[in-house]
Amino acid sequence: MAFVMVGSAYMTYPPEHSDQHRTEFIGAMRGVGASVTVVTTNGKAGRRGATVSAFCSVSADPPTILVCLNKSSGIADAVAENRLFNVNILRDDQAKIARRFAGHDDGHVTDRFENIGCGASDVPEITGAMVLCCETESMVPSTSHTIVIARVIAIKSPHLLPLAYLNGGFHQLVPIKADIE
Ligand SMILES: Cc1cc2nc3c(=O)[nH]c(=O)nc-3n(C[C@H](O)[C@H](O)[C@H](O)COP(=O)(O)O)c2cc1C
Repeated sequence: MAFVMVGSAYMTYPPEHSDQHRTEFIGAMRGVGASVTVVTTNGKAGRRGATVSAFCSVSADPPTILVCLNKSSGIADAVAENRLFNVNILRDDQAKIARRFAGHDDGHVTDRFENIGCGASDVPEITGAMVLCCETESMVPSTSHTIVIARVIAIKSPHLLPLAYLNGGFHQLVPIKADIE
């Protein structure tokens, strides 16, 4: 049974596994803005890339991040086997790349990396993105997803204009004037 705060009292809420509860959860999460990344990997399991917004910092001591990957996605299996991966934090003019790695072009492009600048490194580093080079520390299965916790071993091309995803669409962030004066 789940609870929700109404005024100062907790009330029971729709049963956790009901469709209504799921729909309300998805609706709530649509209102949470997130940076847009492409997780890329290469190694024994091959080269792969997928758009991922479930990414956040875990710790600075030592630098550690996490990403959540759907267990049914190819990227989850590839990261599990390759262990090395990059989190490419997309710039705010790279929504097309986000769509590509979310599979939107899969019907007419055989390789998601086709015509995407990735430099010469083994694990693809998307040109223009801020790249966190990561080594997997642990993988924690949770419901439909795997939480990948990884050490950040290098950071490349920092930029200050990340692409954001909110309410089912891509956004550019506009600073509040008072904060930059
Ligand atoms: C904005 C956006 C954010 C996404 N975030 C995630 C995510 O955090 N984790 C995930 O597993 N899939 C996420 N996806 C879906 C994957 O990008 C998509 O399923 C992709 O095709 C997986 O590729 P693969 O199955 O070849 O690995 C997201 C898609 C979009 C458009």
